[in-house]
Amino acid sequence: MDIKIDNLIEELTLDEKIKLCSGASMWTTEEISRLGIPAIIMTDGPHGLRYVVEENEFGATSNKRTTCFPTSSALASSWNKDLLYLVGKTLAEEAKSLGVNILLGPGINIKRSPLGGRNFEYFSEDPILTADMASEFIKGIQDQGVGTSLKHYVCNNQEYKRFSINVKVAERALREIYLHAFERVVKEVKPWTIMAAYNRVNGIPATQNNYLLKQILREEWGYEGLIISDWGAVHDRIKALKSGLDLEMPGPARVNSEKIKQAIEKKDLEEKILDNSLKRILKTVFKAKKNKIIVDYEEHDKIAQKAAEESIVLMKNENNLLPIDFAKLNSITVIGEMAVNPRYQGSGSSKVTPYNLSDGFTVIKNSIPKSTEFNYSSGYKTDEKLEIQLKDAVNKAAKSDYVIVFAGIPEEYESEGFDRKNIDLPEIQNKLINEVAKVNENIIVVLNNGSAVNMSSWINEVPAILEAWLPGQAGAKAIVNVISGKVNPSGKLSETFPVALEHNPSHLNFPGFNEEVNYAEGIYIGYRYFEKKNITTQFTFGHGLSYTEFEYKNLNVKNEVEARNKIKVSLKIKNIGNRAGKEVVQLYISQKNPYYDRPVKELKKFKKVVLNIGESKEIEFTLSYRDFAYYNPEIGDWIVENDIYEIILASSSKDIRLKKQIRVNSKDTAHNLDVNDPVIDWLNDQIGKKALMEALNDNQIDYLEDKENIYVTERPLYRLDFLSENMITEKEINKIILNYRIFRGDCYFN
Ligand code: BGC
Repeated sequence: MDIKIDNLIEELTLDEKIKLCSGASMWTTEEISRLGIPAIIMTDGPHGLRYVVEENEFGATSNKRTTCFPTSSALASSWNKDLLYLVGKTLAEEAKSLGVNILLGPGINIKRSPLGGRNFEYFSEDPILTADMASEFIKGIQDQGVGTSLKHYVCNNQEYKRFSINVKVAERALREIYLHAFERVVKEVKPWTIMAAYNRVNGIPATQNNYLLKQILREEWGYEGLIISDWGAVHDRIKALKSGLDLEMPGPARVNSEKIKQAIEKKDLEEKILDNSLKRILKTVFKAKKNKIIVDYEEHDKIAQKAAEESIVLMKNENNLLPIDFAKLNSITVIGEMAVNPRYQGSGSSKVTPYNLSDGFTVIKNSIPKSTEFNYSSGYKTDEKLEIQLKDAVNKAAKSDYVIVFAGIPEEYESEGFDRKNIDLPEIQNKLINEVAKVNENIIVVLNNGSAVNMSSWINEVPAILEAWLPGQAGAKAIVNVISGKVNPSGKLSETFPVALEHNPSHLNFPGFNEEVNYAEGIYIGYRYFEKKNITTQFTFGHGLSYTEFEYKNLNVKNEVEARNKIKVSLKIKNIGNRAGKEVVQLYISQKNPYYDRPVKELKKFKKVVLNIGESKEIEFTLSYRDFAYYNPEIGDWIVENDIYEIILASSSKDIRLKKQIRVNSKDTAHNLDVNDPVIDWLNDQIGKKALMEALNDNQIDYLEDKENIYVTERPLYRLDFLSENMITEKEINKIILNYRIFRGDCYFN
């Protein structure tokens, strides 16, 4: 393959080479038929294929009908890796059937604020959950010979000024939070392409950011795939090429093509750089399979339904109000415009035209016995008089055994292109829920939204709440199956629901101003922040109820382990309720005495387990070095401190079931000592102590070790000559520093 590509490159004219480095149209690459180089087709596709048939300057006006799956915030709440693989595989089949070669997704940006307009399209506030979900999704697609585009690299966490905003982010937060999932996915599943974002990162546009594209992505992580620009994201085409951005999309990019030509002619750009990009472009083009298949959209609808069923989170279920036995139901009232016109997907470039669409009104009506009295009231339909609708809803609710209110965030509130203004439901919906709750205590609220909402005005009045997210075309069928108990809910929240927007860690710095947003909260995103500050949440990360119960026992892990070895953790989990169900076992790690500040605990592994009534299963996790590590900006690397760590097994980030402290032996240094560090730190550090011992005599060491003498031990090393009245000289201090560097292997002397 490489030889063929090299030959092809030799045969291409400079104009042809330049042409190939940008798209031929909105969704295709260039074709050079004289050399048998075909075009490839890309479409948006995180939760369904958006195959555009017609478009104008404002966007798509007509798409092919394809399966609309739940959006990523929902899929992540399934915590089910096999499901993500299946959804990916199914999407790839549809791609193949339409001749699409690359799906422009998934988006794996971290949900820094619940206000992010595109949060529905992203997986989680947590990089580990994001990485695991995205990896399986990509595997599912790429195993079928269809490519993906991991997007948006990186720090594209808001819509406000998304084309230009400068993200100011510290190295540790960048590595641990924003790059982490990209790193894992790149290393583990090698996405065919990566899409560089519109925004700037620490002053430099992501599409020409040498540090991010070349140093980290290519050199550190060894990424060999294709880097493409987000649509229209190239600022300086020459700098972009030099940083390794291969393909500019969309095309044709006539102005930039001219610039490339001039730069090569003026020798500002080496042709070799263009050739390297071409190699990656051609490799991708020839990897794309052309065999069309036929798909069964009705079968895919079932997969979309299963995906929604796994993703729904039962947030609250007082006195086991749910499930409702439909066979014994006398009367039910369904309230809410969203029961008829469901909110099932987000808006913007990911919006697909669904193949089918189920709605709560019809599905409930068809699922209950003929004899059951069924009422509907729109409640908050906006084009009629609200007070009349409200009264009608309350009157009907008062007469029914059960009331199901479909509430949520309207499309105009969250979309690609703008951020949310707040996390509240429309006021009329809050009022409606409160009024209905006053007349009927069997009220169930079903929520459709892409990211966290505030329920404080009615949360205590409502016994049962289902977070159904934006559940895709079959969402209503899934919701009704959960309500009726045909499906035992098993979703867990992929993001924290705060009591108030103001509690969110990014609140003072979202969305920024003067073209800049400062990620001042550092690594403290989502539950990492709420736990550290001990702030009560409405619903915690990882929370989700089931109709059955699970018992955790027999946690088994060695008491002492080596950081560089693989570490096995096992436990037993049993279904002790009276229904089959699924539990998401979450493994968190907490470091007990960190030198560098760390979150209270962090998610590292999870597993979704299926258990019949009474059944138990043994679960095993394997932990490795990186699970204990943090990014140490001073050292410029990941390190594990020699310390005690707690292994925590939990049903949510708050619901801890088993834990055990273990010692992790590590030789990593958390901090390089220097003259400014106090004597006590030198004495406590293994290498530091050795450096002291080599440089000083016994009397001098005794003087330093005199713990009574805080005056000395708490002072920096550089003050020692003065403090000791030259008993320890400046020369000896320099010797200590030199010894330390030699013992660390930082420098060598004969
Ligand atoms: C979005 C991308 C999308 C592209 C093509 C951009 O505006 O940010 O996510 O893939 O358009 O539609």
